[in-house]
Amino acid sequence: MSDPGKRHIYPIFGDILGRAEKEDLLEQKGGVFWLTGLSGSGKSTIAAAVERQLHQRGYFVKLLDGDNIRFGINADLGFSPEDRVENIRRVAEVAKLFAQTGIIVLSSFISPTKAIREMAVKIIGQEDFHEIFVDTPLEICEQRDVKGLYQKARAGLIPDFTGIHQPFESPEKPALALKTADKTVDESAEELVRYILSLQPDSKDN
Ligand code: ADX
Repeated sequence: MSDPGKRHIYPIFGDILGRAEKEDLLEQKGGVFWLTGLSGSGKSTIAAAVERQLHQRGYFVKLLDGDNIRFGINADLGFSPEDRVENIRRVAEVAKLFAQTGIIVLSSFISPTKAIREMAVKIIGQEDFHEIFVDTPLEICEQRDVKGLYQKARAGLIPDFTGIHQPFESPEKPALALKTADKTVDESAEELVRYILSLQPDSKDN
C-alpha cells in the first residue's frame, strides 16, 4: 500500500456479517435519501414526517439532520465553503455506514453546491444515493423564516448565509423534486414516502 499510515491495517471483511444478512433481517433495502435545499425549505420537517410514517409501517429509518449533527461529530465546523465540504464528507461517510447496514437513511443538509453533492454520491455510491430536491424558492424560505436566521443574515449578523452571501445550486436531475410552496408538509412527505416504498422489496405492506 502506498499510504504509509495504512500499512498495518488489515480489513477483516470475511468475519463480519454482510449487508444482505442485515437487509434480510430488517426485510428492507438500505439507501440514502439525500434531501437538499435552502435553509427553511422544509427539509427537516418533511424528513421527520417521513421517518415517522415509515417507522409506523415497520421500516427501520435513521434521520441525519444538519442542525443536530453540527452539535455532535461536526461541532468543530462552521459555514465556510471548506467547512461545508468537510461537514458533508463526514455525513456522507456516516450515511454510507448506515445504508450498508440495511438502514433507510434520510439526510437533511443544505449541501449547497453540485460539487459537494457529487462528493456525497462518490462516497455513498450511485446505487444507494437518491437526490431529493426540496424545491422551495428563496423568497418563500425568507418569508417563512422559521428560525429568524434570514432576518439576522440580512442585518449582517450571520456571515456566509446560504442564498444571501453564498450560492445554492439547484440540482439539475434530482430523483425527486418536492415543490413545497403550494403543498402541506404531509403532502410532500407522502410523495417521498411513496418514492422510498417503490424501491423496497414487496415483503412488508406495499
Ligand atoms: S451545509 O451547507 O453544510 O449543508 P447544514 O445543513 O449542515 O449546512 O446546516 C444548515 C443549518 O445551519 C441551517 O438550517 C441553519 O439553521 C444553520 N445555519 C447557521 N449559519 C448558517 C449559514 N451561514 N448558512 C446556512 N445555514 C446556517
